[in-house]
Amino acid sequence: MHHRPTPPTAAATPAPRPRVLAGDRPTGPLHLGHYFGTLQNRVRLQHTGVDLFLVIADYQVLTDRDVAERPAEHAENLVLDYLAAGIDPERATVFTHSAVPALNQLLLPFLSLVSVAELSRNPTVKDEIAHSRQAAVSGLMFSYPVHQAADILFCKADLVPVGQDQIPHLELTRTIARRFNDRYRTDLLPQPEPLLSAAPLLLGTDGTKMSKSRGNAVPLGATEDETARLIRAATTDADRHITYDPARRPGVSALVDLAAHCSGRDPHAVAEQIGPGGAARLKATVTEAVNEHLRPLRTRRAELAADRGHLRAVLAAGNRRANAVADATLAEVRAVMGSV
Ligand code: TRP
Repeated sequence: MHHRPTPPTAAATPAPRPRVLAGDRPTGPLHLGHYFGTLQNRVRLQHTGVDLFLVIADYQVLTDRDVAERPAEHAENLVLDYLAAGIDPERATVFTHSAVPALNQLLLPFLSLVSVAELSRNPTVKDEIAHSRQAAVSGLMFSYPVHQAADILFCKADLVPVGQDQIPHLELTRTIARRFNDRYRTDLLPQPEPLLSAAPLLLGTDGTKMSKSRGNAVPLGATEDETARLIRAATTDADRHITYDPARRPGVSALVDLAAHCSGRDPHAVAEQIGPGGAARLKATVTEAVNEHLRPLRTRRAELAADRGHLRAVLAAGNRRANAVADATLAEVRAVMGSV
């Protein structure tokens, strides 16, 4: 008779949840570009049941400035934007760099695995140096991608959702994991895969990349009046008839895209409907679409903002879990290095 073996552990041990790690620098409030570019995707991932870690990268803020302004307040406000957007603190672990000392202890052996030449070749770092307004480039500017590798490897993340600019950092993380395993003859550190966000780049109110520092962003937490004012100040052009033509009409098309994203419609249809209504009609349409789309998020945000104690408690719980995971990984790293 044919005997069919049954895997003995299949029923007893469920497959481990995939770990996903994402993060942001706490430099200011999150805006619509973050929302459509990454936040929505993180919330979707959370709902698929992955074990989601969100790092508030407060040490990275020090790469191109001397001091981080009000870091604790910025971190709490980031938690506020996360929760308002639908991150569930019961399911996701939100933590700050500065609260997890084991990350710094992982940094040292990881630094020994990469050359100075590799660090200075990193295109994202080069770009940041080119745009930095500081007279001198700090050592952290070159080494923060290695610290970022610790952000990712401490929890043995399987997936890291990122934009294109973070790909060099993820490649470095994979290199560090591989070299660590080779040098210490172990398979301790997995090589995480990037999950490149396919979301189209959402442009700001001047037709260039939406960014807080360019003053062209609509913050998630803005009031409806502030939103109207920001959009009224947006750059359009001399042609009264509204069309969707991103190459030739970046300002007008960025506004059409905003309305289209917020109302879930096709940008060509949005432009066609406005047509001869001109820039004034376009701006009114965008303002209404943005305010309507964000209304539930903003209502939740206002409720959450009234309870700073809750935000701090969410962060404290996240920091506790991140520390437990990081301490465990550090113990394993030290064991394979023979430093126990
Ligand atoms: N470097 C990222 C940024 O500038 C933030 C970040 C820090 C990050 N640690 C991370 C992103 C780990 C992904 C994974 O936005």
